[in-house]
Amino acid sequence: MADLHPENPYAKDRFPDPTKRVEFPPEVKTRFDEVLTRYPTKEAALLPTLHIVQETWGWISPEAVLYVSELLDLSPATVFGVVSFYDMYHQRPVGKYNLRVCTNLSCMVSNAYDIYENLCERLHVDPGQTTKDGLHTVVEVECLGSCGTAPVVQINNDYHENMSVSKMDALLDQLK
Ligand code: FES
Repeated sequence: MADLHPENPYAKDRFPDPTKRVEFPPEVKTRFDEVLTRYPTKEAALLPTLHIVQETWGWISPEAVLYVSELLDLSPATVFGVVSFYDMYHQRPVGKYNLRVCTNLSCMVSNAYDIYENLCERLHVDPGQTTKDGLHTVVEVECLGSCGTAPVVQINNDYHENMSVSKMDALLDQLK
């Protein structure tokens, strides 16, 4: 049987490897315990816990999904459902700079595809890929909620608005 597409939830590498257990380092576990006190139930702390996971390891691996499910007394399917619903959570390792180009309507009519295609060309990556040096990942995303300042590119947690190919080129030169 052919391998399943990697984005398919049933693809083999989307299941935790039983030989690779993960757990928060002590200082992160302390932070997690403190965050937990702010919520009425463990389940309510799921989103902030996933943020902590991503800050700690850069992405949310299947092993981390299992770990979070144990920490919060949830099923792995519940945790995975949330991870896969929000595209702010990375299901694969990403580069140091995650370049998210909005190509939804307002951005599209403001030449977002020129920015997107120029980025892929300049960095020699296909859409969704990370450069060989691990520095940049380029992804196309749906509306970033800043349509009035289109086109918008999100780099990690920062928005860059009213972008153009030349502005993006200049910005890219600073991302080392
Ligand atoms: S369409 Fe790009 S931010 Fe809304």
